[in-house]
Amino acid sequence: MQILPIASGKGGVGKSLIAANLAIALGQAGKRTVLVDLDLGGSNLHLMLGMRSPGGGIGPFLGKRRMRFEDAVLDTEYPNLRFVPGDAEIPGLANLGAGQKRKLVNRIAKIEAEFVVLDLGAGTNYNIVDFFLMGSHGIIITTPTPTAIVNAYLFLKNAVFRLMHNAFPPKSPAANYLNDLRKDSSTLSRLSVPGLLAEVGKIDPQSYEAYRAKAGRFVPRIILNMLEDPQDADKLGRLRSSCRQYLDLDPEHLGIIYRDDLQDKALASRIPLIRYKPGSVLAQAIYRIADKLIQLQHEETGPLLYDSTDDSFAEAEAEAETDFNTKLEYVSELLHSGTLTTGDLIETIKNQQIEISQLRKQNMLYKSKLVRAMSQGFKP
Ligand SMILES: Nc1ncnc2c1ncn2[C@@H]1O[C@H](COP(=O)(O)OP(=O)(O)O)[C@@H](O)[C@H]1O
Ligand SMILES: [Mg+2]
Repeated sequence: MQILPIASGKGGVGKSLIAANLAIALGQAGKRTVLVDLDLGGSNLHLMLGMRSPGGGIGPFLGKRRMRFEDAVLDTEYPNLRFVPGDAEIPGLANLGAGQKRKLVNRIAKIEAEFVVLDLGAGTNYNIVDFFLMGSHGIIITTPTPTAIVNAYLFLKNAVFRLMHNAFPPKSPAANYLNDLRKDSSTLSRLSVPGLLAEVGKIDPQSYEAYRAKAGRFVPRIILNMLEDPQDADKLGRLRSSCRQYLDLDPEHLGIIYRDDLQDKALASRIPLIRYKPGSVLAQAIYRIADKLIQLQHEETGPLLYDSTDDSFAEAEAEAETDFNTKLEYVSELLHSGTLTTGDLIETIKNQQIEISQLRKQNMLYKSKLVRAMSQGFKP
């Protein structure tokens, strides 16, 4: 089972939209998926799924002593997808007690599924960060605006410090050192993680190794949402170099998603975009991300999808270019609507796109079968 927490520093960047549609896409691909609304206090994920007021969910589970978690998990009308609603009535995740959080984390970790998608609230509260750290490849969403990017960086910085806090045993020299630094926030903000770790390595090698073991597996993945044009794809360069230089972290690019005006219509008609218009640029971008996640599922213990994170960034730039051209095709579709020959042409292109994506899925399936066979000693 793989946990996919979806977070952001800033609100309104598309977490819930992506969580809902991605979960539907994973279910459509045959993966048993559970979607959990953990934006407690601001729960709206049921709306993204087209549900009015689902009832049940996390709120009653935390409130009622005798309610089983299984009873908070609802079936949906989508294949292989179950849903755990949040609760607008209960106070936000920021107010969640340590015991309640532990109860939730334990139950979520035991869910029977292949993918568990967690829609988190915005911000860097440590409860949110702890849910993010439930997966070693948490997904962070940002838009190309400077505030959203800075907030994404601050979120990752908080995650790295939380990881340190969890790795250093209480009262160890490393934990004391970190606590002393915390008291003086001006030193903490000036200090880079590599500098801090060098010091920890000297005073407390054991804690240092404990952190290394945890951090080595922590490769967050970024989705850049609401692009307007291909140049926006470059906007993550600074975030990436800051993560490497100051946080000793090398995030991976999971892909780009353009702003798509169809989303407003889909939301108004209470149909998730991926069902409303599966051929739209937005839906196709979600399918592409789902495909990557499915491929990565098989490679979890081996190398990542790409030989280096560089390749993931290069691919995201290529995606930005391709999707932009697809968007232009839609413009031409609008311009020429009514012309039969143009319509035929566009229909052909669309069908070809669907064929290509089906072929890619088949290809991936064969690849994973081959990998499995090879791991059992088969030599091609
Ligand atoms: N790529 C996109 N194209 C068009 N609208 C989008 C896109 N991403 C998000 N939105 C819209 O932006 C608003 C905020 O998205 P939401 O998923 O609720 O953000 P968050 O959960 O991060 O607060 C919603 O109305 C959503 O439909
Ligand atoms: Mg949300």
